[in-house]
Parts: sequence; structure tokens; C-alpha cells
Amino acid sequence: MGQEERIQNAYRGLGGKQTFYDGMITCSTLSGQAVCRLIWGMDRAETQDYLSAALAGIPEGFSGRLLEVPVGTGILTMPLYREMPEAEITCLDYSPEMLERAKCRSEGLSHVRFQQGDVGVLPFGDGSFDIVLSLNGFHAFPDKEAAWREIFRVLRPGGTFCGCFYVRGQNRRTDWLIRRLYVPKGWFTPPFETADSLGHRLEETFGPAKVRMVQSMASFVCRKAKEKHP
Ligand SMILES: C[S@@+](CC[C@H](N)C(=O)[O-])C[C@H]1O[C@@H](n2cnc3c(N)ncnc32)[C@H](O)[C@@H]1O
Repeated sequence: MGQEERIQNAYRGLGGKQTFYDGMITCSTLSGQAVCRLIWGMDRAETQDYLSAALAGIPEGFSGRLLEVPVGTGILTMPLYREMPEAEITCLDYSPEMLERAKCRSEGLSHVRFQQGDVGVLPFGDGSFDIVLSLNGFHAFPDKEAAWREIFRVLRPGGTFCGCFYVRGQNRRTDWLIRRLYVPKGWFTPPFETADSLGHRLEETFGPAKVRMVQSMASFVCRKAKEKHP
């Protein structure tokens, strides 16, 4: 089985269990809170903390072009997009099941469009977006170098790249559970960044970056320097 099929199968299962998935990603249901505590050593306030830090790159009332990759079930961003009717938003994901769920959530949001695809081969021109948002994606992407390259390419010079994902080396229990559980399931794919390697990569690739660590989650906001080249 190829990487794409393996990951699509893994998220087909989760997309089918939306209530569980959404509760886990927001740390809001009982089962979700149990996962957050056991795997991530986090409570709801910490979950909201890292998500707010990741979303801090999007200004209030944003009215430009935004790419979200991967959108998953849209649980984290559809409420936000309701507050940005002037923006032009594109949401992309590998998994048709996750996308379907996000589409259902987007009722009435004519400024949000959805596309199935691979972050490693983005079907957009250079500099197409003012903001690229990537929540909980890089720990799942199979070809991370291609993802970094493509996100850099489609972001306009001066644009903002923000998001969050798992980094190893912060909590031994989390790292062990990720290796033993999430990787075999196909939900996460190594290699994983550390907090330090992420900081360096963002600064070297994009420019000045703000990184905030909450347990094993790194949230970041950075701006693509006008003179940067891949
Ligand atoms: C943990 S979910 C995160 C989704 C959403 N951002 C959230 O926080 O709920 C990871 C998502 O990455 C998607 N994904 C994995 N590899 C991908 C790729 N190469 N291109 C696009 N999406 C991918 C999966 O289909 C899945 O929906």
C-alpha cells in the first residue's frame, strides 16, 4: 500500500468517527479530554492556548486569500471563517471523508471552497495566498520536505504562515505513545521536528518566527521575508 492510500485509510476511520475526532481535537468531550490528558498531558485550557497561538497569525476581519491545509473536519476553523465573509478561503485535505465533514459544516459560507489534494503538490500558482494556515498537519504529512516547499511557494512574499503541530523531545510519554500508537495507525508519519529544529527551519526558510510551546505542541506565526528564495 502506498503512503497516500495508507494515510487516507487512517483518516477515513477517524472521519467516520467525527464526534470522537472533533471532541479530541478540541478537548471538549469526555473521551476527547481523556485522550488529551493521557497522550498529550494537556487539559482544555492548554488545548485552547496552543490553538489560539496558532490562529494568532490571522488578523481580525481578514479579507485576503487564505489557504488552510489540512482542513480535516473543519471543526477548528469554520466558526472563524463565518467571521471573515470578505476573505477568499481555500481548504484542502487528502481525505475525502474529512473534507465531506468540513463541507457539511460550511453551510452558508460561499467564500469558502474545498479541494481534495496533496500538500506536496499544491494545485495553485506561486504567491497565490496572503496566509497559509496549517493546524495539526505536519506530523501527518508523509513527504514533509515537499510540504515545506509547496507552502513556501504558494505564499506571497510578505505573507503569513501560521499553525501548529506535534514536535518530539518535550515529553517522553507522549513521544512513546506517538511512536507506538499514532505512527502504526498511520495518523502520524515521522520524521518529526523538535522545538529547536522547527524554530531554525522557520527562520531559515521564511524569516522571523514566533514559536510557542504547549506540552508537545508547537504553535508558530512567521512571515515570508520579501527577499527569501527556496
Ligand atoms: C490530525 S488531522 C488535522 C486536521 C485539522 N487541521 C484539525 O486540526 O482538525 C491531519 C489531516 O492531514 C491530512 N493529510 C495527511 N497527509 C496529507 C497530505 N499529503 N496532503 C493533504 N492533507 C493531508 C489528513 O487527511 C488529515 O485530515
